[in-house]
Amino acid sequence: MVDHLFLRACRREPVSRTPIWMMRQAGRYLPAYRAVRERASFLDLCRTPELACEVTLQPIDEFGFDAAILFSDILITLPPMGIEVTFPESGPKIGNPVRDQAAIDKLVVPDPDLALPYTLEAIKQIKAALHDRVPLIGFAGAPLTMLTYAVEGGGSKDYARTKKLLYGAPASAHALLDKLAQTCATFLEAQIAAGVDCVQIFDSWGGIVSPGDFREYPLRYAKQVIAQIKSSRAYAAKPVPIIYFVNGCAPYLTDYASSGADVLGVDWRVGIDVVRRSVGDGVALQGNLDPGALFASPTEIRARVSDILERAGKTGHIFNLGHGVLPETDPEHVRAMVTAVRELSSSE
Ligand code: CP3
Repeated sequence: MVDHLFLRACRREPVSRTPIWMMRQAGRYLPAYRAVRERASFLDLCRTPELACEVTLQPIDEFGFDAAILFSDILITLPPMGIEVTFPESGPKIGNPVRDQAAIDKLVVPDPDLALPYTLEAIKQIKAALHDRVPLIGFAGAPLTMLTYAVEGGGSKDYARTKKLLYGAPASAHALLDKLAQTCATFLEAQIAAGVDCVQIFDSWGGIVSPGDFREYPLRYAKQVIAQIKSSRAYAAKPVPIIYFVNGCAPYLTDYASSGADVLGVDWRVGIDVVRRSVGDGVALQGNLDPGALFASPTEIRARVSDILERAGKTGHIFNLGHGVLPETDPEHVRAMVTAVRELSSSE
């Protein structure tokens, strides 16, 4: 494996400049992506390796990020488990939300080789197309975040149904989280075996609970996923860095540090220097520009980049947005951010 800047930063080794990559998730901000989307539905894109490969490479070609992220979606594992998902304009929708023990009992932990072959094939094609230009990041949704989607059936304001299950029927919640953790870990192991160079576990809704419940639910099952990956054959053959991202991590920093991940994702609601002081030097940090800051002028973007680079220090930092890029973002402002990170963090 080539010793890439991004992988060195994950391992907290010295780097000549801070690596940068970005998730576009909610962002249909790239004209090249929108052009492909006109020809295919979102799910068809995810399930057609050639198209997934094409759109994965777009931001690398356009901006020269230091890592590529697999084009897929965290919800891709739900249909093989027995949960129907569609992606209308308004955001993802679940056809048969999981609300009781009987529904949980029916869910299966899929074998990724049989149930998600298109994702594994996409990884192989992307790796071939990248020629080791940059590392490829694979990913999956963390158990609590997946539970929230499965139970709410879509977005939510107060997460009432999630909390009804967690606190009203904890035994059922734990049974569901265990199945989701096995699904997440097994899928990430298959992605490692297929060739990804790093895996990221997205806990987008991990920040909706009290500190005690953070330990009991999101963190506990993220730890289970990370432990299962680390004891797998795929990981023994290729021990890739593991990134854990909790959106809204500020209330849980000391516990966050104990996840077992090599890299912790940091959203923009907390200073990355504050996070560093709480978590110590044992992990790398990824973050944490507010995606909304890309609506500011290039001069202002540069000032904010500079502030984050200063707070983060050079070792063990990967520059990233604190969450996915917003759809109306101007690609030229993304370019301004990339240039600023390159220029301001370079020691050459
Ligand atoms: O950066 C990338 O392109 C990597 C691929 C990726 C997508 N989703 C593609 C996507 C990744 C890493 C994700 C992760 C994901 N998906 C998360 C975790 C990260 C986070 O944002 O917290 C979550 C919660 C989802 C679920 C999801 N998928 C939502 C809420 C939406 C709707 C967003 C919106 O604003 O409409 C999606 C759809 C989605 N996933 C799109 C993309 C490119 C847009 C779909 C389209 O093209 O119409």
